[in-house]
Parts: sequence; C-alpha cells; structure tokens
Amino acid sequence: MPGAIYAEGLVKTFGDVRALDGVDLDVPEGTVLGLLGPNGAGKTTTVRVLTTLLRPDRGKAVVAGIDVLGHPNEVRRAIGLSGQFAAVDEYLTGRENLQMVGQLYQMKAKAAKARATELLERFHLADAADRTAKTYSGGMRRRLDLAAALVVSPPVMFMDEPTTGLDPRNRQQLWGIIQELVAGGTTLLLTTQYLEEADHLAHDIAVVDQGKVIARGTSDQLKARTGGERVEVVVHEREHITAARQVLAGFGKGETSVELHTRKLTVPVSGGARLLAEVIRELDGRGIEIDDIGLRRPTLDDVFISLTGHAAELAGDDNGDGAAGAEPKGRKAARKETAK
Ligand SMILES: Nc1ncnc2c1ncn2[C@@H]1O[C@H](COP(=O)(O)OP(=O)(O)OP(=O)(O)O)[C@@H](O)[C@H]1O
Ligand SMILES: [Mg+2]
Repeated sequence: MPGAIYAEGLVKTFGDVRALDGVDLDVPEGTVLGLLGPNGAGKTTTVRVLTTLLRPDRGKAVVAGIDVLGHPNEVRRAIGLSGQFAAVDEYLTGRENLQMVGQLYQMKAKAAKARATELLERFHLADAADRTAKTYSGGMRRRLDLAAALVVSPPVMFMDEPTTGLDPRNRQQLWGIIQELVAGGTTLLLTTQYLEEADHLAHDIAVVDQGKVIARGTSDQLKARTGGERVEVVVHEREHITAARQVLAGFGKGETSVELHTRKLTVPVSGGARLLAEVIRELDGRGIEIDDIGLRRPTLDDVFISLTGHAAELAGDDNGDGAAGAEPKGRKAARKETAK
C-alpha cells in the first residue's frame, strides 16, 4: 500500500528547464521525509505538484489516499502547506490571519478564534497578535505562516524550508513543534537546506538534484554510503608531516591525504576512539607535536557534497559561502566525536 505521500515518475518542464525529471517518493504514514537538495534542485516544484498547485506533465501522485490529479479539491482539504515564501496577508493582524484560515476551512467562528489564540501563544506571537502583519519581522512572518498551516491540524503536512530565516532559538522551537505534530500522527514532507535539520527531524531523507532523487535512506545509511570514519591530524610543525604520515600509515586502512598549507593529514580508519588514543600515543612517542586531532565521522554535509558535487546551505548561509562553510562544520563535528 502506498504511504501517506506517494509520487511516481513526476516530470515537469518549464521551457528548457526540466524541473522534475522522474521523481518517485513514498512516505509512510506518521513519518517525516526530508527533501534535501541544492538551489534549483526541484524541491519547491515537487511540493507544488503534491499540494495541487501545479500540474505535472507526467506522473502520478497520491496524498492521504487521494489521487492528486483526479481530486485536487479533496487533497486540499486533507493537507496543510507552509510555503517557501510566507503567505500572510500584510493588512490583517496575526490573529485575523489565523482566524481567516479557520473560516476558509469552515470552522465555527468561536472555534477559529480559540485556535488562533492557541497558535499565537505557541508560536510566541501573542504580544504582536493584534498588529498588522506588515509590521512583523521576517521571522515573525514565517512563524505566522507556519501557524496558519496548522490551524486545522491536517493529517498530511508539507513545509517548504520552514526554518529558513529563523534565528537558532526560533528554529529549535519550531523543531519541537514539528516533533510534537509528528508524534500526534501527522505525516510530513519537509524541504530544507539545513542538513542538521534533516538529521534532526527526518526519518528518511531523499536527496534531490536536477529534478531527480539521487539517493535516499536514513541519515545513518546515507552517511555510511559516503565512507566510514577518518582520523584527522593537524601537526604543529610542517617538518613533522612526513613522520606523522608514517605513523598514520600504520593505523589507516587506506591512503593518507595531506593538506600542506593547513598541515592536516586525513586517513580512513576503523576502530573508533580506542584507535584514536593509540594514534595520539604513537605521535607523542615520536615527539610529533599536534595542534588538533579528531575522529571524524561523515556528516550529512559530506554526504551532500559527495552526492551532488556542491556544498549545501547556500541559500540559508548569510556569508553565501557554502563550500567554505562546510569544512569548519565537519571539523566541529569531529571534535565533538572526539570529546565523547
Ligand atoms: N514557474 C517556473 N517557471 C520557470 N522555471 C521554473 C518555475 N518554477 C521552477 N522553475 C525552475 O525549475 C527548477 C527547480 O526549481 P525549484 O523551485 O523547484 O527548486 P528548489 O529545489 O525549490 O530550489 P531552492 O532551494 O532555491 O528553493 C529551477 O531551475 C527553476 O528555475
Ligand atoms: Mg524552493
């Protein structure tokens, strides 16, 4: 039986651009699928097709057991959508925006009012509830838009980059809300540029690039595909690189790579923290001073780069420098692993 969200062979072209080039998805009820992909991969187009906003050229989609192409109106009643760009009415207050959604879904006025109040509290918008949305900051609009998507607690939700533009605290809070939703049985398809977000929230991840799902699995499965653990060492003196390389050769199960300008050596290993301790003892015994050492497990960043050839978090990264940004994150992860 297909899951709560099912797609088969979705194709959509815009002129010369093949935005979707045969997308297949299957999301079991009550789970979260993270759709990951670089800018222009086809994430939003997938969401638009599944939420009836766009007709595909080819393919089939079933959401909440309803055929998307055959019965779009019924699908709309069964789903909630929070788009990549917040769809709030600027000239209404936060409260009015939420009440309006309730009314669109034919809730009684009193129930819609109560639901609006509850959601405004939950999304920390109570203080701003009676101001027009025009006066809201970007993060507040985003939260209002998400609250609007939750007015009727639909069984299937779509969130297109729900936390882009949120500060870390608000992002964490939203993660909590999403987890509560899913614990309550909601099926969720979430697109994100933040690998950490997919790691944290998604049961399953589908990596999309150029309109195709190029990999899928749990975060752990995807990481395992990218390759196992590595030891990374930064030696203090450039003169020690050769000696350090000899030491690592004795522990590694593959070629040691060396980055001369950073004095960093990396070698694939197996054996975890115990092996790391041995490497440290050996280096120390030979008088090789080190600036940094860590056991690095592949992160989703590594997975992403190895699968798509680009770094992620381009859109969400204020520096706009995703490729350079991926490296320090990996290093940080390595240190975290070491500290365990
Ligand atoms: N209405 C449209 N008209 C023309 N081209 C479109 C349209 N919508 C999407 N595209 C193109 O289809 C491709 C996929 O776009 P889509 O918005 O699905 O990407 P995305 O994965 O959501 O990217 P982002 O991370 O930037 O949001 C892109 O090349 C985009 O330019
Ligand atoms: Mg998009």
